[in-house]
Amino acid sequence: MTDRIVLAYSGGLDTSVAIGWIAEATGQEVVAVAVDVGQGGESLETVRQRALDCGAVEAYVADARDEFADQYCMPTLKANGLYMDSYPLVSAISRPVITKHLVAAAQQFGASTVAHGCTGKGNDQVRFEVGIQTLGPELKCIAPVRDLALTRELAIEYAEKHDLPIETTKKNPFSIDQNVWGRAVETGFLEDIWNGPTKDVYDYTEDPSFPPAPDVVNITFDQGVPVALDGQTVTALEAIEQLNRRAGAQGIGRIDIVEDRLVGIKSREIYEAPGAMALIAAHRELENITLEREQARFKKTVDQRWTELVYDGQWFSPLKRNLDAFIDETQKYVSGEIRLELHGGRATVQGRRSETSLYDFSLATYDAGDAFDQSSARGFIDIFGLSSKVASQREQRIHGKPDFSGLGSLDR
Ligand code: ARG
Repeated sequence: MTDRIVLAYSGGLDTSVAIGWIAEATGQEVVAVAVDVGQGGESLETVRQRALDCGAVEAYVADARDEFADQYCMPTLKANGLYMDSYPLVSAISRPVITKHLVAAAQQFGASTVAHGCTGKGNDQVRFEVGIQTLGPELKCIAPVRDLALTRELAIEYAEKHDLPIETTKKNPFSIDQNVWGRAVETGFLEDIWNGPTKDVYDYTEDPSFPPAPDVVNITFDQGVPVALDGQTVTALEAIEQLNRRAGAQGIGRIDIVEDRLVGIKSREIYEAPGAMALIAAHRELENITLEREQARFKKTVDQRWTELVYDGQWFSPLKRNLDAFIDETQKYVSGEIRLELHGGRATVQGRRSETSLYDFSLATYDAGDAFDQSSARGFIDIFGLSSKVASQREQRIHGKPDFSGLGSLDR
């Protein structure tokens, strides 16, 4: 039996050409794998048929939308995952779920190699291949664009010559990757980082400068994940989809950053993630009232490390798993409701309510009913500041005055 290669197939020009290109270069049969992570566009059936028409011996398609929402987007929400404080990991979290299906397909169809359409300059090649090595250590990897000199020009030429059922004239100036968690746009005139994004860059969001009337949404969370919107029960996927529409209509979640890729390049990216950004804003505020102070402070560090690991393609790594366990444990009491106002590019928290809140009105109030014993504050402050005071007394002893270096002219 000839050896087989499974290919991560999007249905677009490059991966459609890659089917024949890889088969010719390696003499092996190609199995196309298409995974729906909520990217929209053509149906899986259309994509499946095109793969077969382009020469794939088999086509494996999977509707992974709920799997992606439940097992990849929700952990990202629990971690408030924002790379460089801005990017909600849109592409970074879709690679591991696609990888899982690639490895499953390789096993099902007896393939020894996995192929993907990434270039040699980005993060995604790393995410796919590190994931494949981890889930299927016996598998080899190949990337036709990177390893078999498949350029855009050659792809167009090949598609026309072989009469492949794929559009070759439609010229999109951008490289786009999208799923239900968001949309990433790069290249073209955006590579000049002084250029502002034009209207045609955006698809998930409306222009926030001319918003419709404010939209107030009540989000109910159970242990860190959304379970209802305005009192209506939703799945994680439905929560993201509905908030993509509502927050998208208000222009929420547009992000423009120059980011540090794992491979050492700084690159300009435009993202749109209306649902994700609204959910993260709500989730963060619910954590503010339900996590104990030290837990919250420490979790910030864990969240950041988790986010960097995921960005860097370490989704299946032992440390990422350990941090998941920590984060999951912190979510035990992150339940309750957040009222968010969506308007003009911003998701603003207006109210919070939780049975498991640590906010204690009788401790916080300055009005009647104050239960906080203010007299204990004095002793607390004396002891809390003692080590600094003792150090300052040493300065007095040695230099005749306290050390204000760096503070300038206090002893003027
Ligand atoms: N820079 C982002 C990341 O590494 C997005 C890359 C998405 N790919 C694309 N062709 N736009 O996660």
